[in-house]
Amino acid sequence: MTRSLEELASPFLKGLIPYSPGKPIEEVEREFGISHSVKLASNENPLGPSPLALQALSAALSGIHRYPDGSGYLLTHALARHWEVPPECVVLGNGSNELLELVGRAFLMPGDEVVYARQAFIVYDMVAQVTGATKVTVPLRDFTHDLDAMRAAITPRTKLVYLANPNNPTGTAVPPRGLEAFLQGVPQDVVVALDEAYYEYLPPDLRPDALRFVRQGRFLLVLRTFSKIYGLAGLRIGYGIGPAPLVALLNRLREPFNTNCLAQVAAAAALQDAEHVQQSAAVNEAGRRYLLEQCGALGLRVVPSVANFLLADVGRPGPAVANALLPHGVIVRPVAGYGLPTHVRITVGTAVENERCVAALRAVLGK
Ligand SMILES: Cc1ncc(COP(=O)(O)O)c(C=O)c1O
Repeated sequence: MTRSLEELASPFLKGLIPYSPGKPIEEVEREFGISHSVKLASNENPLGPSPLALQALSAALSGIHRYPDGSGYLLTHALARHWEVPPECVVLGNGSNELLELVGRAFLMPGDEVVYARQAFIVYDMVAQVTGATKVTVPLRDFTHDLDAMRAAITPRTKLVYLANPNNPTGTAVPPRGLEAFLQGVPQDVVVALDEAYYEYLPPDLRPDALRFVRQGRFLLVLRTFSKIYGLAGLRIGYGIGPAPLVALLNRLREPFNTNCLAQVAAAAALQDAEHVQQSAAVNEAGRRYLLEQCGALGLRVVPSVANFLLADVGRPGPAVANALLPHGVIVRPVAGYGLPTHVRITVGTAVENERCVAALRAVLGK
């Protein structure tokens, strides 16, 4: 009897549902024969990349026949200076997504427990699934991480906790003091992966000082990305900051050339472009207010967000509403897979994109 591919595959692959990304603009335009669509489905920066990153990219293009610097020396050191940590505490990833996976693969084995919120970034669940670890999911409270319940869910078998702040898909953040108390209270021998993909969108008074715990040597990996406010999602570059021994473990496991040379130089340039970051945050703030107000006027309940997207309850099946918006050239994200069947997630766009979105929502919802 020959074995089928399904039988040959790791049993942990059974039941693994592939990640479903936001629909690409080209696909929607081909399908509906339209143009000028707006994609508000993947929490990208609608202003595009930093001009400094674009300049650095053009200068680096002629060198792409060489392998990248596997250690990402220049970017690692730039990040270390930026965050005032030793370079040994910085690890680069092919997007922060890769680091979320690496930290899972580094620590989780069948029988280990991994704690995360039930409605948190779906990749945590996928990593738990492929490592064969036991999933311990904790419901959100008021669309926000319930840190007390998460602390209570930690047992002697827990090895890893994933926590997104701000959270995706809800856009909520926990108070900095609460998060710091949580990090203080987690047992010393449990690793926390604190996913701060949307950190730069937080107003300063909502930014926790998690790096303090890294400097103390806690088993904490703070994850950040260049995909969101820095506008480099297509290049795939993110980073983690953790105590040197934790970073060394991840470096042992990662591919030798996991981040490419263009991503490295663009990220280093974008990091210096404070003006682009500031402008992106300001456009986001205005757009978020506008969308919040307009969705309210359409009678939708919207979760108060501190990120670059909003979770709106459309009061009917979210996937159907997202599909109905497509012929209007508006791409938003259904989130039924997160157990939110009547919500959609809308990325804050430019003023024009936000207006397009509201007009299309009004038409689709018949308001
Ligand atoms: C909470 C969260 N973490 C991580 C990521 C992954 O980002 P990237 O791999 O592009 O850095 C995302 C992307 O949407 C996210 O929402």
